[in-house]
Amino acid sequence: MSGTVVGAGINRVDGPRKVAGAAPYPSDFNVHHQVHAALVGSTVAAGRVVRIDTAAAEAAPGVIRVLTHLNMPRLERGPMTALGASPPPPMQDDLIRHYGQHLALVVAESPEQAAAAARLVAVEYERTEPLLDVLDPKAPQVIDPWGTDSDRGDTEAALASAEVKVTQTYTTPDNTNSPLGLFATLAIWDRDRLTVHDTTQWPSMVKETLAAVFEVPESSVRVLVPYVGGAFGAGLRAWQHVILTVAAARLIGRPVKLVLTRPQMFSCVGHRPDTVQQVSLAANRSGELTAIDHRTVSSLAMEDDDYEAVSAGSAFAYRCRNVVTRDVQARLNRPAPCSMRAPAEGQGNFALESAMDELAYALAMDPLQLRLRNDTDVDPRSGLPWSSKALRECYQVGAERFGWSSRDPEPGSMRDGDWLIGYGMAGCSYPWYSVPCSARATVSRDGSALVLSAVTDIGTGTYTVMTQVSAEHLGLPLGLVRFDLGDSDMPAAPQAGGSGLTGSLGNAVVDACGRLVRRFAELAAEDGESPLHGVPPEAVTAGGGRVHVKGESSRGESYIDILSRNGLPELSADGSSTPASPEDLGMAPSGAFGAKFVEVRVDRDLGLVRIARVVSAIDGGRILNEKTGRSQIIGATIGGIGQALFEDTVTDPGTGRIANGTFGDYLIPVNADIPDLDVVFVGEPDRFSPIGTKGIGEIGLVGIAAAVANAVRHATGRRVRSLPITIDDLL
Ligand code: MOS
Repeated sequence: MSGTVVGAGINRVDGPRKVAGAAPYPSDFNVHHQVHAALVGSTVAAGRVVRIDTAAAEAAPGVIRVLTHLNMPRLERGPMTALGASPPPPMQDDLIRHYGQHLALVVAESPEQAAAAARLVAVEYERTEPLLDVLDPKAPQVIDPWGTDSDRGDTEAALASAEVKVTQTYTTPDNTNSPLGLFATLAIWDRDRLTVHDTTQWPSMVKETLAAVFEVPESSVRVLVPYVGGAFGAGLRAWQHVILTVAAARLIGRPVKLVLTRPQMFSCVGHRPDTVQQVSLAANRSGELTAIDHRTVSSLAMEDDDYEAVSAGSAFAYRCRNVVTRDVQARLNRPAPCSMRAPAEGQGNFALESAMDELAYALAMDPLQLRLRNDTDVDPRSGLPWSSKALRECYQVGAERFGWSSRDPEPGSMRDGDWLIGYGMAGCSYPWYSVPCSARATVSRDGSALVLSAVTDIGTGTYTVMTQVSAEHLGLPLGLVRFDLGDSDMPAAPQAGGSGLTGSLGNAVVDACGRLVRRFAELAAEDGESPLHGVPPEAVTAGGGRVHVKGESSRGESYIDILSRNGLPELSADGSSTPASPEDLGMAPSGAFGAKFVEVRVDRDLGLVRIARVVSAIDGGRILNEKTGRSQIIGATIGGIGQALFEDTVTDPGTGRIANGTFGDYLIPVNADIPDLDVVFVGEPDRFSPIGTKGIGEIGLVGIAAAVANAVRHATGRRVRSLPITIDDLL
């Protein structure tokens, strides 16, 4: 590989379409004869529907049908997916499990008619006391369902005999993904064939789920999503509103379109679950960690599953002999949580890295030195060497760029007028995750290539980087290569999530392109008229729109000539990737690592916190595109600043109602909150994945909240252990 195409910071290939309004998002699709749906959600969090009166809604102009639990067909639950169970089928009984639960779906000729009629549905409730607090002893608990808890050494004894110890409780609230694009579904039945336009990060999973729920073959279901207006994890499930829309379309015999409202985006498509976390750290006086004990409770819906191993990262973050991690989930009368950017680590790292900062103060040691002292070259769970790890370099390069050495360790000692200046930092990682993926590459008689896989581009740059990878491996200029995605009829693919897609897909694309080049080489080798006649295919490579002998570019032939002479319109090859077993390779597959350095300025009198600077040093393995890669980190850093200072989905403690489910009330950072963000990539291509990437979708967010809290501590002397950090914490 020359490396001139891959790695280059080219502009997004889909950029012009997006800025010209020519990229259709799920809510943009319309078909002839379609009708529109609107949801009615529960206004109470627990109890039962005693009576639901739909007469007025049914009599309203344009209304075609009103579905409730009384006339909704009984449906099967969808299948287990790689990320867990499908949501339970909607509107199957009269029980209310959370605020916002779907109680009725009104279908009408226009969206306005559906929304107006939805307000006419009258619901009489029998209320029961909702379980809303994650620490409520009455909440049913789910303990370690995925077997991710850790226990090594003798943590209890190490804590008891510690020379220096900190034990603290940290809390994080519900955060809501809040993508700009409202989630939308358009369901079109043609007899037993179903086509669905849907906001999802995972078309193959939506296809499988709908086929199972509606009892049709998977081959009869097609899910389309060429563009996604953000999702941040909310698109990793086939939510109940999708099932309802598809069910309504089948019952009515017309295409049905549903676009969620912004308030519904807060209760129907998941959120980052709140956590209460207790962390104990022990160290000897020289700063070597002797024990880590991290126990968490996070919230879970009453009848849906989402699993986040909140403390799991603490088991491999540092060299430490004695470690306990424990995650418990409490079932509550709250809407279902789901992945939200950097699931688990986003919450767990805040607690661990805040505690590390507290330990640094207890030791009177520089927080950066404490991390360096406890860095580990091997995965402490298995003892295997990491497939790549440049965390030490992240610390060093990041500290250098930030100017960490100019930090006066004394809290409150650095000032600029009324502003107290604080420097804080955190280390972070996001674990390796990879799953099988497939792709198909085709070169046509005009010399252009089309590469396909049923993935999505959630704004991360998949269209762009896969065009680069395809161009490089087919030896074609970028302008002759198109990478297409977002259609479940394309080769099966995993979710765009878990920082795992670029590696899984990239390796599948490399495989498909390699197989295609080989097919051309084989055709040429068998052909007496080809300059490559008799050349073994393994001696052939691709470049300049041709296949040629490796190291001898003049001896070869163009794709166009080979296809023409063989009378072929095109040639295709399928490729796939299956992650190798870490044990077989004798190494621990590395996710991304990072070091985050933050300068905050806190107004001494008003308690205002301003982020002045952020330096993110990231080891993401091989970076396929410097520009989109940097954008990934910048976007996630802003998400991290949101988590640190703004985002807080408030559930009313009396009623279970989400009290701030609008963009007017749910705070997210705006441009004025964000300074220039410095991003530097360090490290080497990863040894475990053939393409060398490690996935950078999550790592930009992890560590920011802790680095901000640690900077606030340095500026003000106040330790804030509960996110978000707000003015009232600092007055
Ligand atoms: Mo990501 S939260 O896995 O979309």
